[in-house]
Amino acid sequence: IKRFTGKAALHTEAAKLITQLLKDKPDCTLGFATGSTPIGIYEQLVGMYAKGRLSFARARSFNLDEYVGLTESHPQSYRYYMQHHLFRHTDFDQRNTYIPNGIAADLEAECRRYDSLLAEHPIDLQLLGIGHNGHIGFNEPGHSLTGETHLVTLKPETRAANARFFDSEDEVPRQAITMGMGSILKAKSILLVVTGADKAAVVNEALAGPITTACPASLLQTHANVTVLLDADAGKEL
Ligand code: GLP
Repeated sequence: IKRFTGKAALHTEAAKLITQLLKDKPDCTLGFATGSTPIGIYEQLVGMYAKGRLSFARARSFNLDEYVGLTESHPQSYRYYMQHHLFRHTDFDQRNTYIPNGIAADLEAECRRYDSLLAEHPIDLQLLGIGHNGHIGFNEPGHSLTGETHLVTLKPETRAANARFFDSEDEVPRQAITMGMGSILKAKSILLVVTGADKAAVVNEALAGPITTACPASLLQTHANVTVLLDADAGKEL
């Protein structure tokens, strides 16, 4: 667990860890997350790419999740987000950037397709954010969790939290495809980044509380190689 006084230093550290991996293993597989938290990290990576300090030309990437029903040109789809914040500003080969297809005719088949791609290309480093209710990707708290990529119904609190990106809460999709807990925990290393006082309670629950399906992020305690980057606000209860 590393703590930072401000967000900027945290973003720099995360970008440094990703850059180091790209140097050590140019053909690495990166796991990416969306949401507001990683935006500063992608900005740093784009800046470093522009200065010639890194290349994604031989890398692959998997995103954790995608909304069901949004096309890639929808500004709130996670494909659009990744294009906008990272892919189109770098030398990523688009064919090597995987994101679940939320408009696939057969969503179950899409989940199986995603899992076979993941099996073929194990993730070296998975970047994660966390939801206020402890979700990672879109693995929502509940009585049970799912290992594989699957279709989820979003919790009302998740739709409410993400409504800020849409014109109204009604427009927030009700379902998503997400990598499962098993696929996430299979990543060789995990980089969890959390900022803001509103996440302080869930950080404490996830990292110092019991391992429970009621807080999916608590399962990270079972992984041998997790780095957590916290700003002062997010770490204040830990
Ligand atoms: C979203 C995403 C997660 C993300 C989380 C927190 O719903 N599916 O991958 O980590 O919620 O988002 P934010 O960083 O905007 O708080």
